[in-house]
Amino acid sequence: MSVEIRTVTSGQLPLFVRMFEVAALEGAGDAETAVLAEYLEPATNLGAWLGDRLVGTASHFDVELTVPGGASVPASAVTMISTLPTHTRRGISTKLMHHQLRQQREAGRIVAVLEASEGRIYGRWGYGPATRHLTVGMRVRELDFHVDLDDDGSFEFADDDSIVHFGNPLWDAERALRPGRLSRPPQWWAMTLADPPGWREGGGPLLAVFHVAADGTPDGYALYRITPRTEGHIPQAETKVYEVVSPDDHVKALLWRWLLALDLTGTVMVDGLADDDPLWWLPADLRQVRAISSREGLWLRLLDVQAALQARTWFQDGTLSLNVVDPVLDDQSGRYLVVARGGRATCERTGPLDDGDRSPADLTLGVDALAALQLGGVDARTLAGAGRVRARSGDVLAMAARMFRGDVAPHHAGGF
Ligand SMILES: CC(C)(COP(=O)(O)OP(=O)(O)OC[C@H]1O[C@@H](n2cnc3c(N)ncnc32)[C@H](O)[C@@H]1OP(=O)(O)O)[C@@H](O)C(=O)NCCC(=O)NCCS
Repeated sequence: MSVEIRTVTSGQLPLFVRMFEVAALEGAGDAETAVLAEYLEPATNLGAWLGDRLVGTASHFDVELTVPGGASVPASAVTMISTLPTHTRRGISTKLMHHQLRQQREAGRIVAVLEASEGRIYGRWGYGPATRHLTVGMRVRELDFHVDLDDDGSFEFADDDSIVHFGNPLWDAERALRPGRLSRPPQWWAMTLADPPGWREGGGPLLAVFHVAADGTPDGYALYRITPRTEGHIPQAETKVYEVVSPDDHVKALLWRWLLALDLTGTVMVDGLADDDPLWWLPADLRQVRAISSREGLWLRLLDVQAALQARTWFQDGTLSLNVVDPVLDDQSGRYLVVARGGRATCERTGPLDDGDRSPADLTLGVDALAALQLGGVDARTLAGAGRVRARSGDVLAMAARMFRGDVAPHHAGGF
């Protein structure tokens, strides 16, 4: 019997989620399964079926991705990729991913995005790592601040309604300033705020706090969770911060100062801090903000190379010919000419892949490497050094590095 890809119905979603939980080694209970099933209701959920037996899962839903310069592009957020452990390594995920990529492209999405459980899975399907994810820790009992920050506002806890009502517009305002950020559909907020006990990693419930400006309007918020702890008789709770959001960096710094000064806490962990967040510069002793781990963050897949390259802002004029190899959407493989002038670029398809008969393109690269360059998160010279990009000459490579560079470091926050 061969594997068939079919869309999963709404009634099959609990089964779909439970299969994913088995594959992803998540020992979830009914509450967690119900929250995920509701989250997936508006998504396209693809099942790999052996007759009436579900052996593989893949979901995607529409979001918008911010690209360098601040434009938003139609993106497809991919999640729930799994194969039943009894059926792995026989091409089931490959079949699902190929099906999904074609479906996303037919739906007019320009890029697809995902968060990976492991670093070696998605490159083969044309995804490239486009942001880095930094986990940071601080011992806050010894922490003092470099300068005293002025604040004529106040702090207020947010309930589920107010965090969506005021928080989502604040998220959107910050998202417009930062390549790599995704829009958050209502189901994202519903899933995050549902916060079932099995997702709390032993900590307390998810908490949300606003910074409120002097005129009474929330102008920033933080999402965090506290795990109470004591050592001897000394309180040493851990605060895990998921996000501190405001379009105004001063407000962000105020939120950090508030979080770092909470009574009874010993450590603050930050899950995914941007390289240029004001937090790095707040303490008097800068070494107190310690990077604990660094890994790739958002994986990006160009579904339409031309549209993706034309959607971003180019901060350096120039002309580049690209020889792009796409292992799945092979009609995208070929030569492209990018002409960037005054911030915008045209990207024209100029022919099939190089065959050695004509002059080589300036850069030859996989569509995964091109995706890694797209948000400006890595230098083209770094990829060339690692053998991921081949350049016609050192000068051409240096120009490509300048052209692909963004104006703000890309960053992704929040799971999906
Ligand atoms: C990752 C996963 C979905 C792959 O499913 P699968 O059906 O085994 O994948 P395929 O058989 O199509 O494998 C395709 C290729 O990827 C390789 N591969 C797949 N998953 C891999 C992994 N985790 N580590 C290393 N290689 C992997 C396979 O070896 C195969 O290589 P080949 O083409 O050179 O033979 C599956 O292992 C799984 O469900 N893992 C647990 C859940 C998970 O991590 N999901 C991802 C969430 S982001």
